[in-house]
Amino acid sequence: MQNLARVQSPRVIRIGGGIASELPEVLAQLGLSRPLIVTDANLIKIGHVKRLTDILGDTAWGLFDEVVEDPTDACVDAGLAALGAHDYDCIIGFGGGSPIDTAKAVSFMAVNPGHVRDYKAPAQIDRCGLPVIAIPTTGGTGSELTRWCVITDTDQPEKYNLSGLACVATAALIDWTFTTTKPARITADTAVDSLTHAIEAYVSKRAHPYTDAFALSAMPLIATHVRTACSDPENGPAREALMLAASQAGMAFSNASVALVHGMSRPIGAHFHVAHGLSNAMLLPAVTAFSVDAAPARYATVARVMGWAQNGDTDVVACGKLIEGLRVLNDDLGVPSPSALGHTADDQMLHLMAGQALASGSPQNNPRVPSEDEIVALYKEMW
Ligand SMILES: [Fe+2]
Repeated sequence: MQNLARVQSPRVIRIGGGIASELPEVLAQLGLSRPLIVTDANLIKIGHVKRLTDILGDTAWGLFDEVVEDPTDACVDAGLAALGAHDYDCIIGFGGGSPIDTAKAVSFMAVNPGHVRDYKAPAQIDRCGLPVIAIPTTGGTGSELTRWCVITDTDQPEKYNLSGLACVATAALIDWTFTTTKPARITADTAVDSLTHAIEAYVSKRAHPYTDAFALSAMPLIATHVRTACSDPENGPAREALMLAASQAGMAFSNASVALVHGMSRPIGAHFHVAHGLSNAMLLPAVTAFSVDAAPARYATVARVMGWAQNGDTDVVACGKLIEGLRVLNDDLGVPSPSALGHTADDQMLHLMAGQALASGSPQNNPRVPSEDEIVALYKEMW
């Protein structure tokens, strides 16, 4: 039977080079005038926050710049304190996935009691706080368009998914011109995160023609432009393509879900602080090889739309070319293994991580649903 689509997305989406200059118009359209900007110190250092506050002009804005990478519950609490210090009427999440996710969590935790971990998925957080305006500066997570955010627990090493209407930004301004300052490593990691979103959404058991359209548009954009953006950071067409692909892949996975790669990737981030896109990249070839036989036509289409297989190739041949293409991409982007980064994990740790992966619910959307032992074996293979 055909899956059903249950789509949640921002009310306002504006996309294009320089579109951030329309922020005052969007605020006025939404009847908002007192934003708290949630960002991190690096965005101040490289001048992006100055560019944003110049755009805001006379608007009475406030600033919370203490977002950390892989934002924690403590970071959310600090943001809540900043929010409570003045009479703000909206929150601008400005930066990579971390500031945008923090902005979302600060918004909904201001109106939902308890600890942020009380709300982890599959719970749905529908009680909305102040409107969030998401302005991504890296692309990758697609958080500006998704109904998801990810917060890391400080008491126990776990990254949890949070989901629901309260995790959907009210407006997204997607302006690729912020991304030309991204270093090559982050460009590569965020692009592979987007690619993983698109592939996992397309092969997900919850895929739908509506989400397929976004996923199938995103994949070739990333395959065509990721190497150029890494080697030529100021290449406008490459940056524009990757930013669009990040948002489209976000729209796809937000509503079709991610799968086994993301399920296994979060524990690597939580225990070893490997960047999210990088741990996805480490996993993507092995998890794809594990999964292709359960959905060969879908994976073959992935290979064909990226130009890695020909229309005349059988599905089996195309799936083989997909796995090889992902390995070559990792080589070209300099993706190391966890052991090459000096990380070690014994059997007990790998079983803990496999249990956390399964508990997240993501592996259950994979075309081939693994057992805990199979996840441990995949960890060992890629380690
Ligand atoms: Fe991701």
